[in-house]
Amino acid sequence: MAKPIKTVQTVVTAVDEPARGVKRLVLADPDDWELPPFRPGAHIDLHLAKGLVRTYSLCNEPTDNRRYEIAVKCEADGRGGSRFVHEELRVGTALGVSLPRGGLKTHDQALNVFIAGGIGVTPFVSAIRDLREKGRTNYVLHWASSGHPVLPGMVADAFADGHVHLYNTAIEPRPSLAAILKQYGDEAGAFCCGPTSMLDAFDAATASWPAERKHVERFTPPAFARDDNAAPYTLVLAQSKKEIVVRPEIGLVGALEELEADVSVSCAGGICGSCRTRWLEGPPIHNDSVLSPMQRQHEVMVCVAGCAGPRLVLDI
Ligand code: FES
Repeated sequence: MAKPIKTVQTVVTAVDEPARGVKRLVLADPDDWELPPFRPGAHIDLHLAKGLVRTYSLCNEPTDNRRYEIAVKCEADGRGGSRFVHEELRVGTALGVSLPRGGLKTHDQALNVFIAGGIGVTPFVSAIRDLREKGRTNYVLHWASSGHPVLPGMVADAFADGHVHLYNTAIEPRPSLAAILKQYGDEAGAFCCGPTSMLDAFDAATASWPAERKHVERFTPPAFARDDNAAPYTLVLAQSKKEIVVRPEIGLVGALEELEADVSVSCAGGICGSCRTRWLEGPPIHNDSVLSPMQRQHEVMVCVAGCAGPRLVLDI
């Protein structure tokens, strides 16, 4: 029998619609205990239904430790997660969520330049609220939206203090990220979250920047092409002592499902960190956008991984 994936039990305590097509949900412990701590802009996986796990950024500040607040835009052409959130979740719904992961490491001294596209503002809302709570003003938000921005009320103080620059792409061209970043010199740290075209522009504009001064938050996985000619290999689960031959047509995730392994897959594109797993023998072929070279020596994002040898042994 499959081991249940460990989750934190929460209940939906509030739902509203701050903008058309965007729902904001507040999750809390059923008995109002404190929730596991998180960094500004960290992610949680929502376990929505069997096999339906989706990852969202927290948009409240970490000191707000009795609530997880998320904002979800309904993607009519998406994979079904946001539609489920919009149609099925209401006040009182019980929901299992993962421990928070990741988050933004803002700079204490340098200017933090946040660049957001539409709903991609959510991790920066959390970071801005966190900085303001600490009395810091070393941030600026450049925020492009088609029409009215979502969630402006959550950063009302930042607007009032002149720290937010809006771009309405329904009536003006998309802003030049290179021009925006150029004005801040060599000391600023820059963060970007938005649609793929914006992230590509950010990557190009910061290509020569050191890694510690730039950070990209992706919510759309890059296209991942399965290699139909990959050689089969044996997948071994070291703890449960199960094994299976992984053929290209089922892939690693399909093989893990067949073994009923305790791995949570959310984005299925190597960007969210949900399926992070320790490996013992391989080596794996890494295709994710999450792990550092050091982390890859022991860990793998199984949703997009392959194996370069005859056996892949995972520590599960
Ligand atoms: S499920 Fe998101 S990185 Fe694997």
